[in-house]
Amino acid sequence: MSPSPFAVTSPTDPASYSWEATDEGVAERFGIPVGQVLRFDLNTSPAPPSMLAGMLAAGRFETSLSEYPPGDYRHLVEAAAARYGVAVEEVVPGAGADEILDMCTKAFLPAGAAAVISTPTYAMYRVHAEQRGGRLIAVPRLPKADGWAMDVPAVRTAAREATLVWVCNPNNPTGRAEPEGAIERLLEGIAADAEADGRPAPAVVVDEAYSEFVKASVIPLRTRFPNLVAVRTASKAYAMAGLRVGFAVAAPATLARIALYRPPGSVGTISATVVARALRETADMEANVARVLAERPRLASALAEVGWDPQPTVTNFILLDLASAERSEAAALALMRRGLVPRTFGHGHPLAHCLRVTVRDPAENERLIEAAWEIAPTLPPVPVPVPATPEIAE
Ligand SMILES: Cc1ncc(COP(=O)(O)O)c(C=O)c1O
Repeated sequence: MSPSPFAVTSPTDPASYSWEATDEGVAERFGIPVGQVLRFDLNTSPAPPSMLAGMLAAGRFETSLSEYPPGDYRHLVEAAAARYGVAVEEVVPGAGADEILDMCTKAFLPAGAAAVISTPTYAMYRVHAEQRGGRLIAVPRLPKADGWAMDVPAVRTAAREATLVWVCNPNNPTGRAEPEGAIERLLEGIAADAEADGRPAPAVVVDEAYSEFVKASVIPLRTRFPNLVAVRTASKAYAMAGLRVGFAVAAPATLARIALYRPPGSVGTISATVVARALRETADMEANVARVLAERPRLASALAEVGWDPQPTVTNFILLDLASAERSEAAALALMRRGLVPRTFGHGHPLAHCLRVTVRDPAENERLIEAAWEIAPTLPPVPVPVPATPEIAE
């Protein structure tokens, strides 16, 4: 196979990764009380569901907290299987979607093998590949005008030299879903190429962390495509990020390969009990999705008035186009001085001119809107596009 036409990185020292600043870290850095810090950068939901408080107060969990959690997480797995419409042999739980991504990388990316991502996308696919000594093939997404959709033919080509293909749908940080049928076309193309090449198809892991906001999933496709894995989480629509529960859903043989890498007891008993109930009784989750869908257009149109150009989104976060990296960096700093933490993208990132903000509750969003009005006039001016040099006729 000829070398990849896309950017390829080599493994780097895992010690170079750093995670988000804590609330305390932000408060100390900007000299503000920690209670004033609001996270607009983590795509979480502002209030934990009411059921959580009740269950914690009652203190009754599946097993005694002095014992380890049940090794098979039977009740949690049964609840997830019922929620996602699959058999219990098709679900593996983990400590958040992030642990599932780690398990998938261990299962499908041997050292030296290649993983495909569509950039920009969720940063952890790159981190896991690098930590495992994998090669990363980064396929750029289509331009903003095309909704940053995955370049299906290019991903399909790259997949011919890969053992793992990551798809994030809806995609973080762009907030868009792939066009109808795109993932299915990719799976069909990859299957056809694998057959033509006489080798096993690479695993296609579709991260559906935000799927409850669009009410769509690839899970029904798992019976046609045994190489497909769907990743789900209790962190976003279920508003339980602190409990750290996520799932892999796939056909039994594929799932069994992932399950080999499940660490013992990484999901605590409290988390397993509470999330099992939340998956069975979805009223809180549905109310949270309805809250986001009602609040999102209000926040977006207020920020549009400020001139921060919110991009269309189907998720609980909004990408704001501030027109230059200097403007987005200055806006981020000014927001953080007020305790409002947006997601930034470093210099060199294709979205360095953008900020990403979570749709929080109305009063919290109001703080963001008010701050944006204060900050907007202080930012560097929007760069004027340089007109193309006119052709000079000979
Ligand atoms: C696309 C995507 N996948 C996975 C995660 C991690 O989810 P979890 O909290 O379940 O580990 C996130 C969190 O931001 C995400 O955006």
